[in-house]
Amino acid sequence: MPAVILVGAQWGDEGKGKITDFLADQADCVVRYQGGSNAGHTVELDHDQFKLHLIPSGILHPSKTCVIGNGVAVDLGKIIEELDGLHQRGIDTSNLRISSRASVVMPYHKKLDEIEDRTKKIGTTKRGIGPTYADKISRVGFRICDLLHEEYFRQKFTLEAGNKNRLLQKFYGEPGFDVEEMLEQLLAQIAVIKDYVVDTPLLIHRDLKAGRKVLFEGAQGTLLDIDHGTYPYVTSSYPTAGGACVGAGIGPTEMDRVIGVVKAYTTRVGEGPFPTELLDETGEFLRQRGAEFGTTTGRPRRCGWLDAVILRYAARINGLTDLAITKLDVLDTCQTVKICVAYRYKGELLTEFPDTDIVLAGCVPEYIEMPGWNQDISSVTAYRDLPAATRDYIEKIEELCGVKQALVAVGPKRDQTIVTRKIF
Ligand code: GDP
Ligand code: IMO
Ligand code: MG
Repeated sequence: MPAVILVGAQWGDEGKGKITDFLADQADCVVRYQGGSNAGHTVELDHDQFKLHLIPSGILHPSKTCVIGNGVAVDLGKIIEELDGLHQRGIDTSNLRISSRASVVMPYHKKLDEIEDRTKKIGTTKRGIGPTYADKISRVGFRICDLLHEEYFRQKFTLEAGNKNRLLQKFYGEPGFDVEEMLEQLLAQIAVIKDYVVDTPLLIHRDLKAGRKVLFEGAQGTLLDIDHGTYPYVTSSYPTAGGACVGAGIGPTEMDRVIGVVKAYTTRVGEGPFPTELLDETGEFLRQRGAEFGTTTGRPRRCGWLDAVILRYAARINGLTDLAITKLDVLDTCQTVKICVAYRYKGELLTEFPDTDIVLAGCVPEYIEMPGWNQDISSVTAYRDLPAATRDYIEKIEELCGVKQALVAVGPKRDQTIVTRKIF
């Protein structure tokens, strides 16, 4: 089983970083395939915490190859910052590889993201993600390989940056950027990272052919997918499993398993409908106990009960073969726990996730309520040692989405992970 995709099954922040770091120990290569520095993946070691944005969460295992795939939107300044931060903490990054085909986030993309979100009100991370992918699709974006051909890049960039300045000045009444200054900065930045740049689809292909184990680390989550998420309150890439093929340049026939990371309750950052959101003290309890504050922006995350309509949808869209259920320990002190099993919309019972936010906004959750376990589970290391009520909750999740769990997390650290089925 050498190729495994890991995706977020909800609206992001499910604990993908923790699970990726855990599985990286058994993998040979970890690949990010989409998103950019909008992602915030936390990895907790015994006495240390790392927040990774662009660099794969396998980087804390020195012998593993870490790949930033062609589908990623790379902010050169941010990646240099992240590399510097890791070097200062003694982390070796010599096994990092960056795709020559990855898109580059330009300063004007970040400015446009900030300006456009004032009216669109998606609540983006302001990392320039939407405008970068929009330019990629419009065929006016720049890829890492373009910057490595200086004369070509100077010419093309001068033209495009001029267009963006006109847009900023004439349409938005904002100051433009100094094109020459931007050019020099980008060329200086590419010089810093150029030794990491390779043809990553080829590298991954060769790894797979050699029988090496590759883990594809999704960023964001299924409901933030540009096609399958809660449009328009989504990100601008494909966090779903299909995105791994495109964003890493690997055919679907190479993929063996798809793990859905599921938080034991639901959170969301940014705007958009959220049927099980709790605006009461239970929501605040989950936020505080689960430390639900954005890893990238520090924003408080919106919190609510687990939603199995979403999980069933995620299982279908991603073809999930396994679940990794995280943050069960956050529910330790709950007397009872609720799971949404269907929605009530204008009197009608919906069991499938609706195609539009117009409907989702009017959906009222239908809950089942289960007994809580009222017990500290954070040091449990074997599935059979979990309280019966915790196992019942997990098994209900499996039943509702039709996928078995392979991993259960009872705390943020590596040793707070229970393995019930081997992944690699
Ligand atoms: P990601 O974006 O999916 O990687 O998730 P984030 O790192 O943004 O948010 C997940 C947060 O929960 C991080 O602070 C993790 O350290 C933490 N975490 C992950 N798994 C567990 C768990 O099982 N229990 C607890 N209490 N915290 C966890
Ligand atoms: P990880 O990988 C949670 C959300 C933003 C906003 C929407 C669009 O840590 O799970 P964008 O900047 O991407 O254009 O914002 O998507 N968002 C995330 N929410 N976790 C993330 O990443 C997210 N990345 C983007 O809050 O609602
Ligand atoms: Mg996160």
